[in-house]
Amino acid sequence: MNGAHAPVLHDEVIAALAIRPDGNYVDGTYGRGGHASSILGLLGERGRLIVMDRDPQAIADAQQRLGDDSRVTIIHDDYANLYRQLEDLGLLEQIDGILLDLGVSSPQLDDASRGFSFQRNGPLDMRMNPRAGQSAAAWLRQAEEAEIARVLWEYGEERHSRRIARKLVAARDKQPIDDTATLARLIGEALPRSRQQRHPATRSFQAIRIHVNQELAQLQRFLDSVIDILRVGGRLLVISFHSLEDRLVKRFFKRHSSRQAPPRGLPLRENEIDSVVRLRLVGKAQKAGDDELESNPRARSAVLRVAERAA
Ligand SMILES: C[S@@+](CC[C@H](N)C(=O)[O-])C[C@H]1O[C@@H](n2cnc3c(N)ncnc32)[C@H](O)[C@@H]1O
Repeated sequence: MNGAHAPVLHDEVIAALAIRPDGNYVDGTYGRGGHASSILGLLGERGRLIVMDRDPQAIADAQQRLGDDSRVTIIHDDYANLYRQLEDLGLLEQIDGILLDLGVSSPQLDDASRGFSFQRNGPLDMRMNPRAGQSAAAWLRQAEEAEIARVLWEYGEERHSRRIARKLVAARDKQPIDDTATLARLIGEALPRSRQQRHPATRSFQAIRIHVNQELAQLQRFLDSVIDILRVGGRLLVISFHSLEDRLVKRFFKRHSSRQAPPRGLPLRENEIDSVVRLRLVGKAQKAGDDELESNPRARSAVLRVAERAA
């Protein structure tokens, strides 16, 4: 459905947030507001909701839908900058719940002009915020072959990363690779024929998108500052869509929810060891049930992890 975005793991998110009507909540990835509007519906007059997105179209949607609600603050920025934004609002350590629903939204994928899709031809852009950073086409114009291969391998786990990189670098001298159909065709030509069900460009498109949007760096910067944003007892919810994101979240939760033994042999005194457990895990990782999968195939790879600030 064009322009719509069915919120993934909606009921699980709302249950895990355990919303207090007068609490302060953050949706760091507004999208089309599926989760945000349900959160808002559970807040009373004194509750507060901060919504962020890096995509100007998502922000325009938030302004249209929620702009008149005095409980809502709308911020066009990367969620990696949440700490600084909340510092400006005087809300550090006062947040009861934060949701990140990572990745791209259906409207971004469905709109050919955004350049995310190999199924619909469009300019090869792939930026969630087209006003910042470098488009996929600009990156592919100047990146070295080894760098292209590394991105395809690291972020797409593409087995044929080197072959594809070689093909793209050879092709770009003869013709610009500046639309999604050209890129998809070149990737297809670089790969051995197979009976794979997935389009041969799936992994490479994911990898280039992750690189262009610095998705893992964003998530890591956010995680590095998020504990001091929450109040004690406040909850962090992250929905990830591939193993690279989920691994960062899982490691972060593990590191802060258990006491770490210091590396052996380090001459540390007792009081120099970072022994405070700052997070408590809330339940296990959750996935979408059969009902949701039937109506929303996008939920297939979604994993929700929840933790709360312990100290
Ligand atoms: C999967 S959608 C969120 C859908 C939303 N939960 C809903 O119910 O409509 C992800 C959204 O996060 C945004 N996004 C991704 N990375 C971001 C970042 N680093 N900072 C801010 N927004 C980001 C995207 O622009 C996109 O709109």
